Amino acid sequence: MTSPASPASHRLDEPLPSGHRPHVMPWWLGPLLVNPLRRLTTDPKALLAPLVKLGDTALEIGPGYGFFTRFLAEAVGQDGRVVCVDVQPQMLRGLERRLDRFRLRGRVETRQCSTSDLGVEDLDASVDLVVAVNVVHEMSRPAAALAQMAGTLRSGGRLWLVEPRGHCPENVFRAELRWLEQAGLRRIEEPQRTRARRQAATFLRP
Ligand SMILES: C[S@@+](CC[C@H](N)C(=O)[O-])C[C@H]1O[C@@H](n2cnc3c(N)ncnc32)[C@H](O)[C@@H]1O
Repeated sequence: MTSPASPASHRLDEPLPSGHRPHVMPWWLGPLLVNPLRRLTTDPKALLAPLVKLGDTALEIGPGYGFFTRFLAEAVGQDGRVVCVDVQPQMLRGLERRLDRFRLRGRVETRQCSTSDLGVEDLDASVDLVVAVNVVHEMSRPAAALAQMAGTLRSGGRLWLVEPRGHCPENVFRAELRWLEQAGLRRIEEPQRTRARRQAATFLRP
């Protein structure tokens, strides 16, 4: 199932941290993201388990080939829903093929967005969990995108932000944390153990 992005766009344009040049991971590297070796350092099930439960609505931004989506779809169960938004259609097609393989496609809606609009206004204040792993540092308008993500959360909903240390300098990650607070979210204690190679933060919509 693929829906078009909504035409409305946030106008929030914060300058990028100095020296930061966002770069979108090319779609043809998508298969690398689901290489089984990645599970040696990153266990998506263990990382997501404290954040998601049966029946939840989850929104995943920049799912790539669905390394986290598979476990999100399993965790929300048959009565739950996962919406995946990516700027590259080829990534979404790879994700859909993978979901077909695991018979999880029916629980996941895929949407192509633009770099200036995530197209999630219809989800306003309805989402239990937003997942944004290794994606925000690739965005040219991260403050606006983070505000849109925050706007989808219901009261009590959570957002999990993860960035790689290599590609996302600390000042960029700190700016992302600040933008989420400006969007009305409150940072809470990490429910999982954070590994040295990741920068991660969990936020709550009060
Ligand atoms: C490095 S990959 C990470 C994929 C996945 N989260 C994972 O950890 O396996 C970044 C993904 O974010 C997507 N992306 C980049 N800019 C985006 C934007 N402005 N909006 C939505 N997705 C974006 C890319 O197309 C790619 O699928």
